[in-house]
Amino acid sequence: QTCALPISPLFVDETITTPLAIESMPGQFRYPVSGIAEVAAELWKRGVRAILIFGIPKDKDPFGCSAYHPEGVVQQAVSRVKAEVKEMVVITDVCACEYTDHGHCGIVGDTRCGPDLLNDPSLELMNKIAISHAENGADIVAPSCMLDGMVGSIRAALDDAGFEDVLIMSYSTKFASALYGPFREAADSGFTYGDRTTYQIHPGNSREAILESQMDADEGADILMVKPAGFYLDILAEIATLGLPVAAYQVSGEYAMIKCAAAHGWIREKETVLESLTSIKRAGAALIITYFAGDVARWLDEKQ
Ligand code: PBG
Ligand code: ZN
Repeated sequence: QTCALPISPLFVDETITTPLAIESMPGQFRYPVSGIAEVAAELWKRGVRAILIFGIPKDKDPFGCSAYHPEGVVQQAVSRVKAEVKEMVVITDVCACEYTDHGHCGIVGDTRCGPDLLNDPSLELMNKIAISHAENGADIVAPSCMLDGMVGSIRAALDDAGFEDVLIMSYSTKFASALYGPFREAADSGFTYGDRTTYQIHPGNSREAILESQMDADEGADILMVKPAGFYLDILAEIATLGLPVAAYQVSGEYAMIKCAAAHGWIREKETVLESLTSIKRAGAALIITYFAGDVARWLDEKQ
């Protein structure tokens, strides 16, 4: 098989009633809560066996409270998908940047270096988000906030709440990349000030990249992740030697580059996509999160 298990990201928007095209990601949409089970069912039919859900809530505040609301957007989406596409593996993004009005990934406050993420108060928030996703049936939670100690903290919180069998796929090695631009439109998660360089890894720092994944493995992660994928295959190959399954996230900017060049007729889309995913797999990915998941599952099926 050309591809490791393709996982499809899905954006669920609590404020809409019909699908909304994401301009910077041609072919991708935000879906209303009411339509999400149908989208998941269609992906299942095409051969996709796992989805990664992101939510766009109707309310944002400084503390990201809507992220753990019992009837929040992700909570509703997860329970609808699990009710209607029972075997679909549902993964949820655990982060606060879609839910905070300032757009940062957790709770912000004054530090010695100016306003920044407050690590430990933000961990409490992540614990609550992860538990509420598990309560609604998430199979795997995927913390992407890059807080120190996030995996250990969420593992303990899930276990205490009786969710020992919910897995943690950690965004363990997440670079401060220019390739997340389209996602920030897709998920409405752009920040109003500052940037994420205090909690995401500098692209040149391979030592820290490995260390971050090693630390998450030690804290009890079940699956590690490298993000973005295509520019970081050397890192992916090294992290694959740590012993845990590694997911690679082909991010929004990687998708947009291929889509845009293909739309101009400058490259061939299908060949380019399959080559990119083959390379990611060759480097050692066991799982690939890609916006091409639906297409790829179909293309691979046609070949059989
Ligand atoms: C935020 C988050 C981001 C992505 C996934 N989760 C963006 C960011 O860090 O700003 C990016 C995914 C993509 O670009 O496709 N926690
Ligand atoms: Zn975030």
